[in-house]
Amino acid sequence: MIEFKNVGFGYSSKKGIAKIFENLDFTIKDNEFFCVIGPSGCGKTTLLRNVAGFEHPTEGVIMNDGRPVEGIDYRRAMVFQDDAVFPWLTVYKNVEYGLKVRGVSDDIRQEKVKHYINLVGLTGCENALPKELSGGMRKRVDLARVLANEPEVLLMDEPFGALDAMTKEVLQEKLVQIWNESKRTIFFITHDIEEALFLGDRVGLLHRLSDGGELEFFNVPFDRPRDIYLKQQPEFQAMRRRLAEKFHQSGKGGAES
Ligand SMILES: Nc1ncnc2c1ncn2[C@@H]1O[C@H](COP(=O)(O)OP(=O)(O)O)[C@@H](O)[C@H]1O
Ligand SMILES: [Mg+2]
Repeated sequence: MIEFKNVGFGYSSKKGIAKIFENLDFTIKDNEFFCVIGPSGCGKTTLLRNVAGFEHPTEGVIMNDGRPVEGIDYRRAMVFQDDAVFPWLTVYKNVEYGLKVRGVSDDIRQEKVKHYINLVGLTGCENALPKELSGGMRKRVDLARVLANEPEVLLMDEPFGALDAMTKEVLQEKLVQIWNESKRTIFFITHDIEEALFLGDRVGLLHRLSDGGELEFFNVPFDRPRDIYLKQQPEFQAMRRRLAEKFHQSGKGGAES
């Protein structure tokens, strides 16, 4: 469980403290798939970095399982838009890396690497180097690399933002499937409203501080399992339009996709 208790963040600038968000007071439940959308520059990445422990709130506190987040922890794993795979290591060695660093024994390591490579659909590609793979395949390596550490919380910052539409949909389905099989909490940032509605249990729209700075919540009512055809359903499109209106009211400069 992740609890935000009156969380605010500002950084020092020449003009004093520049606030990005404030008064965030909410809880992300265990195993919840929580998505945050918002206009560019509203503070989504900063928010996630605070949960990861890379940055610290300047007001309030973020709690993870009842303890304040004080620093980085492998139980909270970050996935970025640009994949963080090592170009000089094979798929296998990339996925193995974190386990090795943590001193996991040979047999358990082998078993886990095999399992997670299979889970993301990369069996047969173990010996390939990242440069031999497409962007979508590299993203799968990135996911397997992170999942192999069995984090309790996945923090994802527009992870599919650089992929083409088809690859993105395939990976969205893959991610939901993985999350269904072994539930964990996911905090997923995107500026793609359809992506947020397809993936999330709940969507938070982060407004710019100049527009109130609040996080506005929307429960996503669609049953699971969801398949990609959900996006064509009238109820889905109606909700997308409702959020798009709010989104554009909030971030006049923000792009939807
Ligand atoms: N430590 C910092 N120093 C200076 N500017 C910062 C710092 N942290 C965030 N910002 C600024 O705060 C704003 C919000 O950034 P960000 O969290 O990246 O927004 P988003 O991910 O929603 O696009 C940006 O204008 C960014 O440049
Ligand atoms: Mg960002």
